[in-house]
Amino acid sequence: MMKQLDIERPALITAHGVLYKAGCLDLMRTMASESVDCVFADPPFNIGKEYNNGLSDLIDDDKYLNWCRLWITESSRILKEGGAIFIYNLPRWAYQLAAYLEEQEMEFRHWIAVSMKGSFPRGNKLYPAHYALLYFTKGKPKTFNRVRLPIPVCRHCGKDVKDYGGHRKYLNPAGLNLTDLWEDTSPARHSKNKSRWHINELKPTIPERCIQISTNPGDIVFDPFGGGGSTYVTAQHLHRFWVGTEIGPCEPIIERFAREFPKSELPNEIPAELRPVFVPLAVSGD
Ligand SMILES: C[S@@+](CC[C@H](N)C(=O)[O-])C[C@H]1O[C@@H](n2cnc3c(N)ncnc32)[C@H](O)[C@@H]1O
Repeated sequence: MMKQLDIERPALITAHGVLYKAGCLDLMRTMASESVDCVFADPPFNIGKEYNNGLSDLIDDDKYLNWCRLWITESSRILKEGGAIFIYNLPRWAYQLAAYLEEQEMEFRHWIAVSMKGSFPRGNKLYPAHYALLYFTKGKPKTFNRVRLPIPVCRHCGKDVKDYGGHRKYLNPAGLNLTDLWEDTSPARHSKNKSRWHINELKPTIPERCIQISTNPGDIVFDPFGGGGSTYVTAQHLHRFWVGTEIGPCEPIIERFAREFPKSELPNEIPAELRPVFVPLAVSGD
């Protein structure tokens, strides 16, 4: 059932963002069309994980995909023309979500393979070695910033780990071009957050690259699935505005902001730059 969400009562306000303890659809339905520059979504994967949010993460396949289609429809609506959506999921779901994104007239950019470590094969299947990170845009991308990675060197001798076949001098000194295979992004397994709250937290490099590729400072990022707040702290570090929801406990996100931005004062008001994102509720009886 659709709940009426009071926009004026967020769980956290910062100088750049606002977080609601709510189901994402309840918030998205109060968001204006074409109001955000980037959506980053790392939903539950429907594999029976415990998120302490009172919801089952193991429902019928059809029910799960229908739920994903609802937040994808809303995401496509709230994205500005040329804005980007990134969806992190298992290939098992991602190919179906990609097909639905295309139905929403979103343009395919990349299927980024994000290396999966420490998994094991089940039954008569191949060893799963990657997660899918879908990258689509609403029409032609309005922003595409090239992200570069440091040229890899041996941590013992400091020399290049690869032989560039005599072409080393032609490499861009700013670093190597990011490819669609990310092998340096395994989860932060031992973070304090994770052990205390059992959050399935991403290494911030993942949302960080997505935000850098598709937005500029001052742009607005929306992440419907807060978890430990990786997207929000990253957006804030990169001087982007952000909006988020988390249906379960918001304390991990609030505590993480206090740790990562210890000197910042928390404002009482939603940042003016985020006001246009929210549509005032219609007063019934008018
Ligand atoms: C995989 S985690 C996200 C982790 C996050 N990307 C991070 O790196 O910290 C998914 C989160 O979505 C939350 N969630 C599940 N259903 C939701 C819904 N309908 N609306 C908002 N949050 C939801 C879960 O409670 C969980 O914390």
